Amino acid sequence: MTTVFFHSDLDDPMAWQATLQAALPDLNFIVGPTCERPEAVDVALVWTPPPQGLRAFPNLKAVLSLGAGVDQLRLADLDPRIPVARLIDDTLTQRMVEYCLTAVLYFHRNMHLHAANQAQRQWTFIAPVSASARRVLVLGLGELGSAVASTLVQQGFQVTGWSRRPKQIVGADCCHGEEALAQALGTCDVVINLLPLTAQTAGLLNREFFARLRPQACLVQVGRGGHLVEADLLAALEQGQLAGAFLDVFGIEPLPTDHPFWSHPLLRLTPHVASLSDPDQSATSVVENIRRAMLGADLQHAIDRALGY
Ligand code: NDP
Ligand code: OXD
Repeated sequence: MTTVFFHSDLDDPMAWQATLQAALPDLNFIVGPTCERPEAVDVALVWTPPPQGLRAFPNLKAVLSLGAGVDQLRLADLDPRIPVARLIDDTLTQRMVEYCLTAVLYFHRNMHLHAANQAQRQWTFIAPVSASARRVLVLGLGELGSAVASTLVQQGFQVTGWSRRPKQIVGADCCHGEEALAQALGTCDVVINLLPLTAQTAGLLNREFFARLRPQACLVQVGRGGHLVEADLLAALEQGQLAGAFLDVFGIEPLPTDHPFWSHPLLRLTPHVASLSDPDQSATSVVENIRRAMLGADLQHAIDRALGY
Protein backbone atom coordinates (compact mmCIF):
# COMPACT_ATOMS: atom_id res chain seq x y z
CA MET A 1 0.00 0.00 0.00
CA THR A 2 1.20 3.52 -0.87
CA THR A 3 0.11 6.48 1.24
CA VAL A 4 -0.15 9.95 -0.25
CA PHE A 5 -0.71 13.02 1.92
CA PHE A 6 -2.52 15.84 0.08
CA HIS A 7 -2.58 19.48 1.19
CA SER A 8 -3.81 22.49 -0.79
CA ASP A 9 -6.25 25.32 -0.32
CA LEU A 10 -6.49 25.78 -4.11
CA ASP A 11 -6.85 22.30 -5.56
CA ASP A 12 -9.81 19.94 -5.29
CA PRO A 13 -8.78 16.90 -3.17
CA MET A 14 -11.72 14.78 -4.37
CA ALA A 15 -10.79 15.24 -8.03
CA TRP A 16 -7.17 14.30 -7.30
CA GLN A 17 -8.17 11.33 -5.16
CA ALA A 18 -10.49 9.93 -7.82
CA THR A 19 -7.93 10.34 -10.59
CA LEU A 20 -5.02 8.90 -8.64
CA GLN A 21 -6.96 5.95 -7.19
CA ALA A 22 -8.26 5.06 -10.65
CA ALA A 23 -4.64 4.54 -11.71
CA LEU A 24 -3.33 3.22 -8.38
CA PRO A 25 -6.15 1.18 -6.74
CA ASP A 26 -4.17 0.40 -3.56
CA LEU A 27 -3.48 4.08 -2.88
CA ASN A 28 -4.27 5.37 0.60
CA PHE A 29 -5.12 9.09 0.08
CA ILE A 30 -5.06 11.34 3.15
CA VAL A 31 -6.39 14.88 2.86
CA GLY A 32 -4.56 17.31 5.19
CA PRO A 33 -3.91 19.42 7.08
CA THR A 34 -4.05 16.79 9.85
CA CYS A 35 -2.64 13.31 9.58
CA GLU A 36 -3.10 10.66 12.25
CA ARG A 37 -0.25 8.42 11.12
CA PRO A 38 2.49 10.65 9.68
CA GLU A 39 4.95 7.73 9.76
CA ALA A 40 2.83 5.95 7.12
CA VAL A 41 3.10 8.75 4.54
CA ASP A 42 5.23 7.89 1.50
CA VAL A 43 4.57 10.89 -0.75
CA ALA A 44 3.39 14.45 -0.06
CA LEU A 45 1.33 15.97 -2.89
CA VAL A 46 1.01 19.57 -1.79
CA TRP A 47 0.67 23.19 -2.90
CA THR A 48 1.94 24.41 0.47
CA PRO A 49 3.16 22.38 3.45
CA PRO A 50 0.65 21.69 6.23
CA PRO A 51 1.11 23.70 9.46
CA GLN A 52 3.11 20.86 11.05
CA GLY A 53 5.64 21.09 8.16
CA LEU A 54 6.94 18.41 5.83
CA ARG A 55 9.43 17.26 8.45
CA ALA A 56 6.48 15.79 10.34
CA PHE A 57 6.55 12.84 7.91
CA PRO A 58 9.59 10.77 8.93
CA ASN A 59 9.40 8.24 6.06
CA LEU A 60 8.72 10.61 3.17
CA LYS A 61 10.09 9.34 -0.16
CA ALA A 62 9.17 12.33 -2.32
CA VAL A 63 7.45 15.69 -2.34
CA LEU A 64 5.34 16.50 -5.40
CA SER A 65 4.39 20.15 -5.86
CA LEU A 66 0.88 20.91 -7.07
CA GLY A 67 2.37 23.93 -8.84
CA ALA A 68 5.07 24.66 -11.39
CA GLY A 69 6.90 26.65 -8.73
CA VAL A 70 8.29 25.15 -5.53
CA ASP A 71 9.25 28.13 -3.34
CA GLN A 72 5.90 27.89 -1.53
CA LEU A 73 6.94 24.44 -0.25
CA ARG A 74 9.47 26.08 2.11
CA LEU A 75 12.07 23.50 1.21
CA ALA A 76 14.73 24.82 3.59
CA ASP A 77 12.83 22.85 6.27
CA LEU A 78 13.03 19.58 4.34
CA ASP A 79 15.83 16.99 4.40
CA PRO A 80 17.92 17.83 1.28
CA ARG A 81 18.02 14.15 0.29
CA ILE A 82 14.27 13.98 -0.32
CA PRO A 83 13.54 14.48 -4.02
CA VAL A 84 11.06 17.15 -5.04
CA ALA A 85 9.22 17.40 -8.36
CA ARG A 86 6.96 20.08 -9.81
CA LEU A 87 4.03 20.04 -12.22
CA ILE A 88 4.52 20.71 -15.87
CA ASP A 89 1.71 20.28 -18.36
CA ASP A 90 0.73 21.67 -21.73
CA THR A 91 -2.39 23.41 -20.45
CA LEU A 92 -0.40 25.21 -17.76
CA THR A 93 2.09 26.39 -20.37
CA GLN A 94 -0.65 27.42 -22.82
CA ARG A 95 -2.47 29.42 -20.14
CA MET A 96 0.70 31.27 -19.20
CA VAL A 97 1.40 32.01 -22.86
CA GLU A 98 -2.13 33.43 -23.24
CA TYR A 99 -1.79 35.62 -20.15
CA CYS A 100 1.57 37.07 -21.19
CA LEU A 101 0.43 37.61 -24.77
CA THR A 102 -2.69 39.41 -23.50
CA ALA A 103 -0.57 41.71 -21.34
CA VAL A 104 2.01 42.42 -24.05
CA LEU A 105 -0.70 43.18 -26.63
CA TYR A 106 -2.46 45.46 -24.13
CA PHE A 107 0.65 47.61 -23.81
CA HIS A 108 1.68 47.23 -27.45
CA ARG A 109 -1.72 48.54 -28.62
CA ASN A 110 -1.49 51.42 -26.09
CA MET A 111 -4.52 50.30 -24.09
CA HIS A 112 -2.95 51.73 -20.93
CA LEU A 113 -2.74 55.14 -22.61
CA HIS A 114 -6.27 54.89 -24.05
CA ALA A 115 -7.59 53.93 -20.59
CA ALA A 116 -6.00 57.05 -19.10
CA ASN A 117 -7.49 59.20 -21.87
CA GLN A 118 -10.92 57.64 -21.41
CA ALA A 119 -10.83 58.52 -17.70
CA GLN A 120 -10.33 62.16 -18.79
CA ARG A 121 -12.99 61.94 -21.59
CA GLN A 122 -10.19 62.76 -24.01
CA TRP A 123 -10.35 61.77 -27.70
CA THR A 124 -6.64 61.38 -28.45
CA PHE A 125 -5.45 59.56 -31.54
CA ILE A 126 -2.35 57.46 -30.91
CA ALA A 127 -1.06 55.76 -34.05
CA PRO A 128 -0.38 52.05 -33.51
CA VAL A 129 3.16 50.86 -34.26
CA SER A 130 4.04 47.46 -35.63
CA ALA A 131 5.04 44.60 -33.34
CA SER A 132 8.46 44.51 -34.99
CA ALA A 133 9.13 47.96 -33.51
CA ARG A 134 8.71 46.63 -29.96
CA ARG A 135 11.14 44.59 -27.90
CA VAL A 136 9.99 42.27 -25.13
CA LEU A 137 12.42 40.95 -22.52
CA VAL A 138 11.53 37.59 -20.97
CA LEU A 139 13.26 36.83 -17.65
CA GLY A 140 13.50 33.07 -17.23
CA LEU A 141 13.61 30.74 -20.22
CA GLY A 142 12.35 27.54 -18.64
CA GLU A 143 9.18 25.61 -19.49
CA LEU A 144 7.06 28.74 -19.37
CA GLY A 145 9.44 31.53 -20.36
CA SER A 146 10.69 29.75 -23.47
CA ALA A 147 7.11 29.08 -24.66
CA VAL A 148 6.21 32.74 -24.05
CA ALA A 149 9.34 33.94 -25.86
CA SER A 150 8.66 31.70 -28.89
CA THR A 151 5.05 32.86 -29.12
CA LEU A 152 6.11 36.51 -29.04
CA VAL A 153 8.64 35.82 -31.82
CA GLN A 154 5.82 34.26 -33.87
CA GLN A 155 3.72 37.38 -33.24
CA GLY A 156 6.46 39.50 -34.80
CA PHE A 157 7.95 41.09 -31.66
CA GLN A 158 11.67 41.49 -31.10
CA VAL A 159 12.42 39.25 -28.16
CA THR A 160 15.29 39.09 -25.70
CA GLY A 161 15.44 36.19 -23.26
CA TRP A 162 17.48 36.00 -20.07
CA SER A 163 18.36 32.87 -18.15
CA ARG A 164 21.04 31.60 -15.75
CA ARG A 165 22.82 29.46 -18.33
CA PRO A 166 23.18 30.10 -22.07
CA LYS A 167 20.04 29.17 -24.07
CA GLN A 168 18.90 29.23 -27.65
CA ILE A 169 15.40 30.07 -28.83
CA VAL A 170 14.73 30.43 -32.53
CA GLY A 171 14.23 34.09 -33.44
CA ALA A 172 15.06 35.45 -29.96
CA ASP A 173 18.24 37.06 -28.64
CA CYS A 174 19.19 35.05 -25.59
CA CYS A 175 21.59 36.20 -22.92
CA HIS A 176 22.70 35.40 -19.40
CA GLY A 177 24.64 37.07 -16.62
CA GLU A 178 24.14 40.34 -14.76
CA GLU A 179 25.85 42.55 -17.32
CA ALA A 180 23.69 41.22 -20.12
CA LEU A 181 20.58 41.82 -18.03
CA ALA A 182 21.56 45.44 -17.40
CA GLN A 183 21.95 45.96 -21.16
CA ALA A 184 18.74 44.14 -22.03
CA LEU A 185 16.75 46.27 -19.61
CA GLY A 186 17.83 49.39 -21.46
CA THR A 187 16.47 48.16 -24.78
CA CYS A 188 13.08 46.64 -24.00
CA ASP A 189 9.55 48.06 -24.08
CA VAL A 190 7.98 45.31 -22.01
CA VAL A 191 9.64 43.03 -19.46
CA ILE A 192 8.01 39.76 -18.39
CA ASN A 193 9.16 38.10 -15.18
CA LEU A 194 8.97 34.30 -15.35
CA LEU A 195 11.78 33.45 -12.97
CA PRO A 196 11.48 31.01 -10.08
CA LEU A 197 11.80 32.56 -6.63
CA THR A 198 15.21 31.62 -5.18
CA ALA A 199 17.79 33.30 -2.99
CA GLN A 200 19.36 34.66 -6.20
CA THR A 201 16.19 36.09 -7.74
CA ALA A 202 14.38 37.44 -4.64
CA GLY A 203 13.94 41.22 -4.84
CA LEU A 204 15.35 41.41 -8.39
CA LEU A 205 12.57 43.78 -9.51
CA ASN A 206 13.82 46.69 -7.46
CA ARG A 207 14.79 50.36 -7.77
CA GLU A 208 18.04 49.63 -9.59
CA PHE A 209 16.25 47.31 -12.02
CA PHE A 210 13.56 49.88 -12.83
CA ALA A 211 16.14 52.66 -13.21
CA ARG A 212 17.81 50.66 -16.00
CA LEU A 213 14.61 50.48 -18.07
CA ARG A 214 13.82 52.90 -20.86
CA PRO A 215 11.34 55.49 -19.64
CA GLN A 216 7.73 54.30 -20.05
CA ALA A 217 8.58 50.62 -20.24
CA CYS A 218 5.95 48.16 -18.95
CA LEU A 219 6.12 45.17 -16.61
CA VAL A 220 4.34 41.82 -16.62
CA GLN A 221 4.91 40.22 -13.21
CA VAL A 222 3.89 36.55 -13.19
CA GLY A 223 6.79 34.93 -11.32
CA ARG A 224 6.36 35.30 -7.59
CA GLY A 225 5.55 38.23 -5.29
CA GLY A 226 8.96 37.90 -3.64
CA HIS A 227 10.68 39.06 -6.84
CA LEU A 228 9.18 42.53 -6.54
CA VAL A 229 10.05 45.33 -4.13
CA GLU A 230 6.58 46.84 -4.02
CA ALA A 231 7.60 50.33 -2.83
CA ASP A 232 10.15 50.52 -5.66
CA LEU A 233 7.46 49.67 -8.21
CA LEU A 234 5.22 52.44 -6.90
CA ALA A 235 8.14 54.91 -7.06
CA ALA A 236 9.02 53.83 -10.62
CA LEU A 237 5.40 54.38 -11.72
CA GLU A 238 5.35 57.75 -9.98
CA GLN A 239 8.56 58.80 -11.73
CA GLY A 240 7.44 57.59 -15.18
CA GLN A 241 10.17 54.97 -15.41
CA LEU A 242 7.35 52.52 -15.83
CA ALA A 243 4.17 53.24 -17.77
CA GLY A 244 2.19 50.36 -16.29
CA ALA A 245 2.25 46.82 -15.01
CA PHE A 246 0.23 43.63 -14.97
CA LEU A 247 0.64 42.01 -11.56
CA ASP A 248 -0.56 38.44 -10.96
CA VAL A 249 1.53 37.50 -7.93
CA PHE A 250 2.07 39.36 -4.66
CA GLY A 251 4.14 39.29 -1.49
CA ILE A 252 0.95 38.62 0.47
CA GLU A 253 -1.84 36.64 -1.21
CA PRO A 254 -4.72 37.41 -1.12
CA LEU A 255 -3.62 41.02 -1.53
CA PRO A 256 -4.88 42.96 1.53
CA THR A 257 -7.90 45.12 0.70
CA ASP A 258 -6.13 48.31 1.85
CA HIS A 259 -3.08 47.74 -0.36
CA PRO A 260 -2.23 50.75 -2.58
CA PHE A 261 -1.94 48.53 -5.67
CA TRP A 262 -5.73 48.00 -5.81
CA SER A 263 -6.59 51.56 -6.76
CA HIS A 264 -3.49 52.47 -8.77
CA PRO A 265 -4.58 53.60 -12.25
CA LEU A 266 -1.45 52.20 -13.95
CA LEU A 267 -1.78 48.70 -12.53
CA ARG A 268 -3.84 45.78 -13.81
CA LEU A 269 -4.19 43.18 -11.06
CA THR A 270 -5.19 39.52 -11.30
CA PRO A 271 -5.43 37.11 -8.33
CA HIS A 272 -2.65 34.59 -9.17
CA VAL A 273 -4.55 33.17 -12.11
CA ALA A 274 -2.04 33.65 -14.93
CA SER A 275 -1.86 29.89 -15.15
CA LEU A 276 -3.09 26.76 -13.46
CA SER A 277 -2.30 23.14 -14.04
CA ASP A 278 -4.90 20.78 -15.43
CA PRO A 279 -5.35 17.81 -13.03
CA ASP A 280 -6.40 15.48 -15.85
CA GLN A 281 -3.16 16.17 -17.69
CA SER A 282 -0.85 16.43 -14.69
CA ALA A 283 -2.20 13.28 -13.04
CA THR A 284 -0.30 11.06 -15.45
CA SER A 285 3.05 12.42 -14.35
CA VAL A 286 1.98 12.48 -10.68
CA VAL A 287 1.04 8.78 -10.92
CA GLU A 288 4.36 8.08 -12.61
CA ASN A 289 6.22 9.98 -9.88
CA ILE A 290 4.39 8.11 -7.10
CA ARG A 291 5.47 4.84 -8.74
CA ARG A 292 9.04 6.12 -9.10
CA ALA A 293 9.16 7.33 -5.50
CA MET A 294 8.12 3.86 -4.26
CA LEU A 295 10.88 2.29 -6.39
CA GLY A 296 13.49 4.86 -5.33
CA ALA A 297 13.87 5.94 -8.98
CA ASP A 298 14.54 9.49 -10.24
CA LEU A 299 11.41 11.64 -10.44
CA GLN A 300 10.10 13.30 -13.60
CA HIS A 301 10.37 17.11 -13.54
CA ALA A 302 12.58 16.93 -10.45
CA ILE A 303 14.03 20.19 -9.21
CA ASP A 304 17.65 20.71 -8.25
CA ARG A 305 17.45 21.00 -4.46
CA ALA A 306 20.70 23.00 -4.31
CA LEU A 307 19.50 25.55 -6.90
CA GLY A 308 15.97 25.71 -5.49
CA TYR A 309 14.18 25.33 -8.84
P1 NDP B 1 11.70 26.59 -14.96
O1 NDP B 1 12.36 26.04 -13.76
O2 NDP B 1 11.38 25.67 -16.09
O3 NDP B 1 12.58 27.79 -15.57
C1 NDP B 1 13.18 28.75 -14.79
C2 NDP B 1 14.01 29.68 -15.67
O4 NDP B 1 14.55 30.72 -14.85
C3 NDP B 1 15.20 28.96 -16.32
O5 NDP B 1 15.39 29.44 -17.63
C4 NDP B 1 16.36 29.38 -15.43
O6 NDP B 1 17.61 29.43 -16.07
C5 NDP B 1 15.95 30.78 -15.05
N1 NDP B 1 16.64 31.20 -13.83
C6 NDP B 1 16.60 30.64 -12.61
N2 NDP B 1 17.40 31.30 -11.75
C7 NDP B 1 17.95 32.31 -12.46
C8 NDP B 1 18.88 33.32 -12.14
N3 NDP B 1 19.41 33.43 -10.92
N4 NDP B 1 19.24 34.18 -13.12
C9 NDP B 1 18.73 34.05 -14.37
N5 NDP B 1 17.86 33.11 -14.74
C10 NDP B 1 17.47 32.24 -13.79
O7 NDP B 1 10.38 27.33 -14.44
P2 NDP B 1 8.99 27.55 -15.20
O8 NDP B 1 9.26 28.23 -16.49
O9 NDP B 1 8.21 26.29 -15.25
O10 NDP B 1 8.24 28.51 -14.17
C11 NDP B 1 8.81 29.76 -13.79
C12 NDP B 1 8.06 30.33 -12.60
O11 NDP B 1 6.79 30.81 -12.99
C13 NDP B 1 7.72 29.34 -11.48
O12 NDP B 1 8.84 29.09 -10.65
C14 NDP B 1 6.62 30.06 -10.74
O13 NDP B 1 7.19 30.88 -9.74
C15 NDP B 1 5.98 30.94 -11.82
N6 NDP B 1 4.62 30.50 -12.12
C16 NDP B 1 3.59 31.41 -11.95
C17 NDP B 1 2.31 31.06 -12.24
C18 NDP B 1 1.20 32.04 -12.13
O14 NDP B 1 0.05 31.66 -12.29
N7 NDP B 1 1.49 33.29 -11.89
C19 NDP B 1 1.96 29.70 -12.72
C20 NDP B 1 3.10 28.84 -12.88
C21 NDP B 1 4.38 29.24 -12.58
P3 NDP B 1 18.29 28.09 -16.67
O15 NDP B 1 17.47 27.76 -17.91
O16 NDP B 1 19.65 28.53 -16.99
O17 NDP B 1 18.18 27.04 -15.61
C1 OXD C 1 2.43 27.51 -9.96
C2 OXD C 1 1.53 28.60 -9.73
O1 OXD C 1 3.55 27.54 -9.49
O2 OXD C 1 0.33 28.42 -9.91
O3 OXD C 1 2.02 26.55 -10.64
O4 OXD C 1 1.98 29.71 -9.40
